[in-house]
Amino acid sequence: MGMPEFRSGWGNVRGLGGEGSCIGGQMLNDVWVNGWVFLLGTFGFLTLVLSGGELSLPDLGRRIFFDESLSSPVGQSCASCHDPKTAFADLRRVSPGAVVGRVGRRNAPSLMYAALIPPQKLEDTYDDEGEVEYIVEGGLFLDGRAHDLLEQVRAPFFDEKEMNNKDEEELARKLRRGEYGDEFREGLDAEVTRRAFEALVAFLREPVFRPFNARIDDYWAGDKEALSLAERRGLDIFETSGGCVSCHLTGAGTWLEPLLSDSGYDNLGVPSVGGVDLGLGGVTGLRGELGQFKVPTLRNVALTPPYFHNGSVGTLREVMEFYNKRDVERERWGKTDFPETVNREDMGDLGLSDEDISDLVALMDAFTDRHLLEMDEEEDFPKTPQGVPETEERRAFFKEKERPDLSRPRRPRAGSGD
Ligand code: HEC
Ligand code: HEC
Repeated sequence: MGMPEFRSGWGNVRGLGGEGSCIGGQMLNDVWVNGWVFLLGTFGFLTLVLSGGELSLPDLGRRIFFDESLSSPVGQSCASCHDPKTAFADLRRVSPGAVVGRVGRRNAPSLMYAALIPPQKLEDTYDDEGEVEYIVEGGLFLDGRAHDLLEQVRAPFFDEKEMNNKDEEELARKLRRGEYGDEFREGLDAEVTRRAFEALVAFLREPVFRPFNARIDDYWAGDKEALSLAERRGLDIFETSGGCVSCHLTGAGTWLEPLLSDSGYDNLGVPSVGGVDLGLGGVTGLRGELGQFKVPTLRNVALTPPYFHNGSVGTLREVMEFYNKRDVERERWGKTDFPETVNREDMGDLGLSDEDISDLVALMDAFTDRHLLEMDEEEDFPKTPQGVPETEERRAFFKEKERPDLSRPRRPRAGSGD
């Protein structure tokens, strides 16, 4: 096989895209052409990989996200628990770890919009007596134990119930050995792993994770037909008698478009499952914050059962019934981990009718992003959504923020802390 043949192959390949020179061509020729397309494709891929530095940071992050060689033992990646087919959440109540027999204790949340959860800070508000109190806002993980996304993405690699690497050295070794070309050849262990974490953060900030292209967004943009009658009634209940909007914001908050979360923490008194979970109180050391968990975004919630931090409630209808009658049907919901810090003001006896409940359930469908609904069986990743706005203001959100001192004296939301 000499150079001339290579040239003729190349010429035909170009012809395929342009002049259609192969239409009606010999079978043999087609085979050669396809062969060259394949070879050239592989060659291009290998050059990309071997030359290093060719991958953008988000693309590098995407590869790491799906790489099952980075756990110990191998076989688990981020995607094992954050499945692109279900809005990057896990439909199992809790997820098994890389080590057979180990399981986590919380329901793996969706990663949609996770990059828009603000870094943790203390926010001043006023309590019932008009006194200033500081409450925790933002932070990653359901108990807020990571200050920001960069701190969060490193954790699963070393969690013994997740990817179970011993230390930075082990992870760096795997990254250097992985299919990343020269990306990770140079640098100390800590530099290699830091680059991987930064790549994951860049990946999770991609438009595909924050498209704001659900029907509710069309509705808010002025297309009143985008919601059904039931969904519109549901939205009305959500913002009035249901009181949902006080935590699941429908206006601009830390981001311009509504995230359907205020990034605060609360104890809803959800049913206990297994052992006691300290929640935010376990992180801050304040008794008043025991059993509090982050207010999640409700975007794509219809795709991500089961619900609540421990996956204790299976369906959206049951979630709504829980909000409506938690304090009326106590036996139905059973024990909760920290009864003394449960929010008894905003929910538990809402007095909603069965139809109201159905309308609220219907509304949740309007929160599902279009590009996730459009994924078909064979696709293993959603298509990049078009028209996601990028401005300086939005990019500024992603700059690193100062860490608050959580041990500073303050009055926690539920009052009974120090
Ligand atoms: C074994 C299952 C499992 C694996 C593997 C896993 N996660 Fe998670 N992930 C979870 C669970 C469970 C939580 C919630 C845990 C908590 O809050 O304590 C979570 C939480 C998160 C969050 C926080 C979301 C929020 O709302 O605060 C992010 C971001 C995240 N994971 C990204 C990743 C990335 C990136 C990887 C790969 C490096 C990964 N996860 C691997 C199960 C997993
Ligand atoms: C006082 C704040 C607050 C109010 C009011 C509130 N929620 Fe929530 N919501 C939360 C918190 C906190 C969680 C997570 C609780 C947990 O995991 O233990 C949550 C979780 C949820 C979930 C489950 C999400 C998931 O991914 O598991 C749904 C659905 C939901 N809320 C809908 C509603 C609706 C509908 C209303 C109004 C009827 C409402 N919420 C009112 C704070 C609130």
